[in-house]
Amino acid sequence: MITGAAVLAGVMGHPVRHSRSPLLHNFWLARHGIDGAYVPLAVAPADFATAVHGLRAAGFRGCNVTIPHKEAAFAVCSRVEDSARLAGAVNTIVFSGAEIVGSNTDGAGFLANLAAHDVADASPALLLGAGGAARAIAAALLAAGRAVTVANRSPARAAALQAQLPGLQVIAWDARAQALADFGLLVNTTSLGMAGQPALEMDLFHAEAGLVVADIVYVPLETALLAAARARGLRCVGGLGMLLHQAVPGFAAWFGVTPVVDDAVTALIAADIGRL
Ligand SMILES: NC(=O)c1ccc[n+]([C@@H]2O[C@H](COP(=O)([O-])OP(=O)(O)OC[C@H]3O[C@@H](n4cnc5c(N)ncnc54)[C@H](OP(=O)(O)O)[C@@H]3O)[C@@H](O)[C@H]2O)c1
Repeated sequence: MITGAAVLAGVMGHPVRHSRSPLLHNFWLARHGIDGAYVPLAVAPADFATAVHGLRAAGFRGCNVTIPHKEAAFAVCSRVEDSARLAGAVNTIVFSGAEIVGSNTDGAGFLANLAAHDVADASPALLLGAGGAARAIAAALLAAGRAVTVANRSPARAAALQAQLPGLQVIAWDARAQALADFGLLVNTTSLGMAGQPALEMDLFHAEAGLVVADIVYVPLETALLAAARARGLRCVGGLGMLLHQAVPGFAAWFGVTPVVDDAVTALIAADIGRL
């Protein structure tokens, strides 16, 4: 139940009905007995800036930003944190006094998920993909002092990422399997393996026994890559944990409590994904 004093936040996307953020944040609100609500906000691109200013005027504490607004959000923010600048995208907005502050929690969410699986020190990293998620993850790993190499189907996109992130190494897409022996962490950041997408072709033959295999795809929860890695006895990290952990900083900023990613919230969102 919410009262007239409820604290408000939400997620802006177009479409937004696929988002699991309302389920997640409202679970945490109920768990902590917070008088608040987190709502889905379907906002067309042309209305994005108006909608953000409108939320602020209506007393919201802030919002998450998802596809297709993550880049447009830069223009509407009066201050952008390093996490967003490095990731090239804003996924969290906090209204702070007169300021509209943008940040990106994907990289931190990925690292927190590794830590939750006790593999925080897995290194060096080979990232498959050079899209938006790869950029956020590579930036976070580099900032944490890790060596990061990217392999992407389109060489130009990998080169562009390398130009944006000093220290990033690049290898050819076709060299990814052979190169695996040099890495302690393999991360699929492509959309391959996601329900409705082609499978990721990744031969794990050259993997060392200590390799940690992470997939940020979370539909299905266990991708073919993770199943293959598990069958080889390798340690695996699924994508759902990143989704949950990236939500923590926004909730803390808006509602004043740092929520915990535990079995109950994981099971709730996993069950929702399983209903697909
Ligand atoms: N767990 C989480 O919290 C979380 C967070 C963010 C994203 N994700 C997931 O991560 C995935 C990527 O998201 P994104 O925003 O980074 O997408 P994106 O910016 O569109 O990038 C897609 C990447 O996939 C590669 N790719 C697509 N089709 C391919 C194919 N047939 N062969 C080889 N490579 C292919 C692209 O390579 P090219 O450059 O060659 O096109 C690119 O590197 C999505 O499945 C998304 O759901 C999960």
